[in-house]
Amino acid sequence: MDGHSSCGKSTMAKALAKKIGYTYVDTGAMYRAVTLYCLRRGFIHGDTIDEKSLEQEMDRICISFGKDSQGMQYTMLNGENVEKEIRGMEVSGKVSPVSAIPFVREAMVLQQRQLGRDGAVIMDGRDIGTTVYPNAELKIFVTASDTIRAQRRYDELISKGENPVYEEVLANVRERDYIDSHRAVSPLRKADDAIVLDNSSMTMDEQDEWLMSQYMRAAAE
Ligand code: DC
Repeated sequence: MDGHSSCGKSTMAKALAKKIGYTYVDTGAMYRAVTLYCLRRGFIHGDTIDEKSLEQEMDRICISFGKDSQGMQYTMLNGENVEKEIRGMEVSGKVSPVSAIPFVREAMVLQQRQLGRDGAVIMDGRDIGTTVYPNAELKIFVTASDTIRAQRRYDELISKGENPVYEEVLANVRERDYIDSHRAVSPLRKADDAIVLDNSSMTMDEQDEWLMSQYMRAAAE
């Protein structure tokens, strides 16, 4: 499942994975964890990333996923639960340039293929249908208008106790759209055989129902 940022991909993907007993892999969380590592190590200075230092330490970055007592998945960076930190504005503001670095993508794609090697996986990202799993049985490309996506992200941050400014959230959504679709390596692009879902005016239940029907159809083929 690929698509623009903040269009509700992960919520839909998680819900379907739970229903059908598949493993959910949030590849955006992996790029976010690498970004957090860079911030902590002081590799990001304004708009500049110290790629040389990052490249030297790439093999020290281990990303994995855990599940809490309620079955909620969380992201771990070198064994530490960083789920909350990777969702904040600081990481969101730097993740697109970090995820545009070719050696970062190479390392993440390898890990993603490893995570999906036994099948029964729903993987959510930007380049899953084009690069990571070009032979996936079902490819969905999700999108929605940028203002609706910014509002959803704003509401999500508020519900997590943060204090966002709507205009900043919208600017971040637009900036990420631009960087994600213009980078040289694996830009955000709909795979030719992906089915598009524009959920701008759909409820959660409608999306879940639509996705389940696509899954049932693909599973029957
Ligand atoms: O899905 P998300 O918003 O958490 O993703 C964070 C960033 O990571 C997003 O700006 C683009 C990047 N990303 C990517 O380049 N490739 C992926 N497969 C997943 C995310």
